[in-house]
Amino acid sequence: MDLYEYQAKDLFAAHGVPVLPGAVASTTEEARATAERLGGPVVVKAQVKTGGRGKAGGVKLAQSPEEAAEKANAILGLDIKGHVTRRVLVTEASDIAEEYYFSFLLDRANRTFLAMASAEGGMEIEQLAVERPEALARVPVDAIAGVDKATALKILRQAAFPEKIVDAAADVVVRLWETFVAEDATLVEVNPLVRDPQDRIVALDGKVTLDENAAFRQAGHAELVDKEAEDPLEAKAKAKDLNYVKLDGQVGIIGNGAGLVMSTLDVVAYAGERHGGVRPANFLDIGGGASAEVMAAGLDVILNDPSVKSVFVNVFGGITACDAVATGIVEALRILGDEASKPLVVRLDGNNVEEGRRILADAAHPLVTLVDTMDDAADRAAELAAAGV
Ligand SMILES: Nc1ncnc2c1ncn2[C@@H]1O[C@H](COP(=O)(O)OP(=O)(O)OP(=O)(O)O)[C@@H](O)[C@H]1O
Ligand SMILES: [Mg+2]
Repeated sequence: MDLYEYQAKDLFAAHGVPVLPGAVASTTEEARATAERLGGPVVVKAQVKTGGRGKAGGVKLAQSPEEAAEKANAILGLDIKGHVTRRVLVTEASDIAEEYYFSFLLDRANRTFLAMASAEGGMEIEQLAVERPEALARVPVDAIAGVDKATALKILRQAAFPEKIVDAAADVVVRLWETFVAEDATLVEVNPLVRDPQDRIVALDGKVTLDENAAFRQAGHAELVDKEAEDPLEAKAKAKDLNYVKLDGQVGIIGNGAGLVMSTLDVVAYAGERHGGVRPANFLDIGGGASAEVMAAGLDVILNDPSVKSVFVNVFGGITACDAVATGIVEALRILGDEASKPLVVRLDGNNVEEGRRILADAAHPLVTLVDTMDDAADRAAELAAAGV
């Protein structure tokens, strides 16, 4: 889960990373009041989960509370790369002497954590990585050893941070590592990390991604979810403990096992090209134990998606045999009754497949078509979706 800047900075503050005082506002009046309370010049910043806010007009300096209200008025409602701004952060303006870049992230490709640092801030990090890769230090971080002051100093010296502030910056880096570990983050990024004229080091921006797999031991993270911005189908699926991701196509997908579901998305997208460009409407992995309840819950979510025109159920019987899955499908359709209103293409294979197919054939549900192979089933589901669009 990605956090908003103001949420990231709250976590920073809780772990001793220096940030400037500020508060989030959803109206111009709130923005004015915060600016008044802070006194002096402030910066009004769009709270959207995307970068490039500055260039899009989403970060503005204001000298007075009136100007802060004006700037908030201009930024609230602003569309930044498809993200509509509903809140702004009003924060003290910093007198920036220098801008740097720092991040910790999970480096999946190399199966390690990675620190990235550069003494050249201000530039977009992707651009810096391409144009001046030597200016961006990349230092693997051992998960067990972690980052103490000595390691932090090593990283910052490798990134050519100015010697006179390297000690102060290392203290901040140690706190950022503490944030990364304690919050179960997969990304903690500060761009820019700045030095002010008094040589204090401050995180002026913050980007944090939390690992949702750690939700069970991070009770406080639930309240960081932006319920208003959540997709209603994804919220419903989450409430039912389903592994669901909404996509923008027309063919609903249910499968067991993440790998099988991902290949199902591929074959459906491919088949869709022959049928007017229909595409998968979602990812849904109902996992190993595909009980009737789980199947019904999954079908319920998918059938309530108005963009879904057909459903492809692709199951490989393993630990849960095909006959149990087939019974699950029949039972799920019974539970859903009239709510099940869209054609279902079912492909079963694996453990006890004959028995599974017989159960579905015997049930002879009018909405269900049984197809033997994955490619043929994808083609049929795409065809039905195209006919229903
Ligand atoms: N509190 C502040 N005081 C002074 N300047 C600020 C403050 N916050 C941000 N800025 C300036 O605005 C720039 C952009 O802000 P920020 O990094 O928070 O947004 P961003 O979405 O990452 O924008 P971009 O991708 O365009 O850099 C910063 O690099 C900094 O120069
Ligand atoms: Mg930034």
